[in-house]
Amino acid sequence: MNDAKSTANRDTVTLTDNSTGKSLELPILGGTVGPRAIDVSKLYAETGYFTYDPGFTSTASCDSNITYIDGEVGVLMHRGYLIEDLAENSDFMDVCYLLLHGELPDAKEKTRFEKSITYHTMLHEQMNNFFRGFRRDSHPMAVMVGVVGAMSAFYHDSTDINDPHQRMVASHRLIAKMPTIAAMAYKYSVGQPFVYPRNNLSYAENFLHMMFSVPCEEYQISPVLARAMDRIFILHADHEQNASTSTVRIAGSSNANPFACIAAGIASLWGPAHGGANEAVLQMLNEIGSKDRIPEFIKRAKDKDDPFRLMGFGHRVYKNYDPRAKVMQKSCHEVLGELGIEHDPLLEIAMALEKIALEDDYFVEKKLFPNVDFYSGIILKAMGIPTSMFTVLFAVARTVGWVAQWREMIEDPKQRISRPRQLYHGYAQRDYVPLDKR
Ligand code: SDX
Repeated sequence: MNDAKSTANRDTVTLTDNSTGKSLELPILGGTVGPRAIDVSKLYAETGYFTYDPGFTSTASCDSNITYIDGEVGVLMHRGYLIEDLAENSDFMDVCYLLLHGELPDAKEKTRFEKSITYHTMLHEQMNNFFRGFRRDSHPMAVMVGVVGAMSAFYHDSTDINDPHQRMVASHRLIAKMPTIAAMAYKYSVGQPFVYPRNNLSYAENFLHMMFSVPCEEYQISPVLARAMDRIFILHADHEQNASTSTVRIAGSSNANPFACIAAGIASLWGPAHGGANEAVLQMLNEIGSKDRIPEFIKRAKDKDDPFRLMGFGHRVYKNYDPRAKVMQKSCHEVLGELGIEHDPLLEIAMALEKIALEDDYFVEKKLFPNVDFYSGIILKAMGIPTSMFTVLFAVARTVGWVAQWREMIEDPKQRISRPRQLYHGYAQRDYVPLDKR
């Protein structure tokens, strides 16, 4: 490929096919900040060639104004605000409004938005029956996929994706009801009655209330734990075109209803390579069991023949410290301090593991740093959240990112059904073989 050359009003690259001598000039597109992109949308029509990029490591799948990540330096911004600033100065409702509307809300906007979310937190009473169809020991992510998908069977007045009002109502319903459904999944798994949301509680307080209150006793909400929960929601809210967000966009590109699209996102997030990593980190730390076994696991993580990977380490985009992990680590110490947990053995193993890994050539060369999932599980465990609920919490928080990206996709005039192609390696056409000849 020739170097980019500037033309009168835009940069282009020229692709030359050495087998035919033919050349094609392709426009280079630029955004506000970050890598520019070569527009290959006409490539197949003009050359008969596909691009080839398994895992989309070099592919910009869409235009977006929501979130920007600079993986080389470890920057994460939502609508231009650094995640560190938002985690320090905002609450989750601020960040939800910002992701959905592009600006931080003023006092009036925030009150109106928060009221709308609060008054959508209850679930249609008949949906309670869905839970009884699951085994008590079902993984709560299986329950989330099922019940959120079933919302499309109950909220027919917010499934018309072409109606902006219905898109807004569906978005608020999803953001509001995810904590309720998540807490119900937990209560069902421990055989306790469902706890209704309370309108006088904040989003994070309400979640803790629905998780830990029982009819016989109100859960005393610690302001520090509620703030930590709120901050964990902020840190997981959105993250550009990750696997689950791309799943939601592709599902939405077929004009599927928003509840079905978010259920698809929950399913994708469940994987241990993605949102399931926070649960996998705790399992790994428990398996390591003590600091002196860390070298054994570092060796396994480096062994190509061993499928074991260091959970909570590495990232497709971050080739530096995940900024969310830094905030999470700080929050970890605050929560453990608040709970009077002087020595958390898992935290000590995690910190020793992080130190050793970051000094190991393998991790340094491959730029494998702790990601958002590395510390989150330690905080959640200290707060009394069972390990199986960790990815559920990730899904609760990421719902606002999913719906914001889904709405951006639906409202994009360039939007069309996502339909990638392939490089085919199967049989060429062959004659049919009748049964008696096989
Ligand atoms: C999330 O995309 C997002 O934004 C996701 C997320 C979000 O907010 O939505 O940030 C949330 O999913 C965070 C990631 C959580 N997952 C984990 O912690 C699981 C462990 N990490 C890995 O599975 C892996 O790092 C991925 C899946 C996160 C990234 O995989 P990539 O980009 O496909 O990288 P790769 O697998 O090609 O790895 C590159 C090299 C490989 O070695 P080589 O083949 O080049 O010799 O690094 C190695 C890998 O073997 N490697 C690891 C490793 N991660 C990568 N080796 C040991 N331990 C690891 N954790």
